Amino acid sequence: MALHSLQALVEQLATQPIIFIGGKGGVGKTTTAAALASYYASQQQKTLIVSTDPAHSLGDVLNIRLKNGKTVISPYLDAIELNPDTIVDEHFAQVERTIRAYANPDMMPKIREHLQLSKSAPGAQEAAMLESMCQHLVNAADADYDHIIFDTAPTGHTLRLLVLPEMMGAWTDGLLAQQRRQ
Ligand SMILES: Nc1ncnc2c1ncn2[C@@H]1O[C@H](COP(=O)(O)OP(=O)(O)OP(=O)(O)O)[C@@H](O)[C@H]1O
Ligand SMILES: [Mg+2]
Repeated sequence: MALHSLQALVEQLATQPIIFIGGKGGVGKTTTAAALASYYASQQQKTLIVSTDPAHSLGDVLNIRLKNGKTVISPYLDAIELNPDTIVDEHFAQVERTIRAYANPDMMPKIREHLQLSKSAPGAQEAAMLESMCQHLVNAADADYDHIIFDTAPTGHTLRLLVLPEMMGAWTDGLLAQQRRQ
């Protein structure tokens, strides 16, 4: 990209609160996301950068070990590497706490076993990831970030993530229709 158009893009994005960096594998998404985030932070625009790629490299680019929660990189820059396993574990721990409040205690071992299996159900990791991304978007608005920048996984993976609500909707509609027939 010519330098002047790159500058124009960076300035244009400077007014955008939510920025997704997407593209196919290895084209420079993480490098671009980290460079943009560092630039806005240097301009004293409070920025949160979130990696949604399970094969993380944002920490390598920023030269700091990142985790599922926020790490402060500099006064205007925070970074997160979403960890699908951690998010799934936290999600199902919450579900278990909710169920425990009203379920028969004798049923709990069976329920726990079922929840354990659900963790590896198709789409569980993507659902957890998407839920966490939405949570960060909501929190970022409250935390007065000027930008939240998502460093995403290669296109195929990210598209699967984004069509998940539609897919789950069709799936649950199918299950409900099946139940009504019985
Ligand atoms: N503008 C650039 N010019 C030359 N090399 C670059 C440029 N941007 C990134 N690279 C190099 O290309 C490689 C891939 O970059 P990066 O990790 O940012 O890509 P990515 O799109 O995030 O990859 P992945 O799809 O695996 O997440 C790295 O070695 C990086 O140093
Ligand atoms: Mg990357």
